[in-house]
Amino acid sequence: MKKIIEKWFDILQFPTEWKGEILESAQGFSTDEIEKNEQPYEWLFEQENKLQGLLYALYKCEDFFNTGRKRNIPEDILIKTLSEVRRYALEYYTSTGKIGVLMITWLGIILNGNIYRLGRLEFEMHPAQHSCEELGLEKGENVIGVHIPDNGGPFTPEACEKAYAIAKDFFAEYFPEYSYTHYVCESWLLDTTLKNFLNNDSNIVKFMDTFKPVVSKEAYSALIYLFSRDTSVEDLGKITPKTSLQKAVIDHIQNGGKLYTTFGVKIR
Ligand SMILES: CC(C)(COP(=O)(O)OP(=O)(O)OC[C@H]1O[C@@H](n2cnc3c(N)ncnc32)[C@H](O)[C@@H]1OP(=O)(O)O)[C@@H](O)C(=O)NCCC(=O)NCCS
Repeated sequence: MKKIIEKWFDILQFPTEWKGEILESAQGFSTDEIEKNEQPYEWLFEQENKLQGLLYALYKCEDFFNTGRKRNIPEDILIKTLSEVRRYALEYYTSTGKIGVLMITWLGIILNGNIYRLGRLEFEMHPAQHSCEELGLEKGENVIGVHIPDNGGPFTPEACEKAYAIAKDFFAEYFPEYSYTHYVCESWLLDTTLKNFLNNDSNIVKFMDTFKPVVSKEAYSALIYLFSRDTSVEDLGKITPKTSLQKAVIDHIQNGGKLYTTFGVKIR
């Protein structure tokens, strides 16, 4: 087990100064208690000890990789997809100064082999959360969910189009049994309220306009992407905005405005 953890620590290029602590904790690490649970990643999320989640994620990289290779998925795609484990560990370290991972349920979806990083975007195989009669989508139908990582260069329409082109070939080649006719996205980036604050050159507006908005619910998850993982509405008075969008969102909420998470659909 320790060998597998170390192997993925090295492949994913974790900070070398973490190695001592990781290997020491890996020494007595066992998956028994974790795997007793029907939903191990949800269980890990509830645990105080966030290092345990990171060790488990590193250990599960091996299964993800071997399963992917059996499907002939190229190594570079598998490793790029797994680099989310490092990204979220670094995020946790930056905000707490500790080695571990908070976003273990998200990593679980990746490690279960449902999400792949392809170019600027991530693509997830899952059933549609809602119907969209106008575009011929029924709730529960197989779709590809689109996720937007905060890394990987400019979020231009060209970069997104390239990612869709890669995804089309990727799923046809490596998951030919998975048939789908729509992309979906559920995100703060599809909240049309943002159009009041952004100009037409904005990458967010251009991305939003490629989806048909179907269902919106009031939500403030935008704050965690605009500021930091633990920002809530109550914190806004203490924040000095750095970008035009941050400033506009703070003003909007302080004047009683709302934000939404929107589910949108796009035909393949
Ligand atoms: C998606 C993302 C790359 C878009 O950024 P972008 O390409 O700069 O977007 P736009 O061109 O529309 O930006 C317009 C303005 O909003 C600002 N802005 C956009 N996203 C921002 C963010 N997450 N935080 C702070 N400001 C942001 C830009 O800096 C720019 O402001 P400026 O004119 O003062 O420079 C960026 O929001 C991001 O990295 N988000 C994190 C990931 C995410 O939200 N995923 C979806 C989860 S559901």
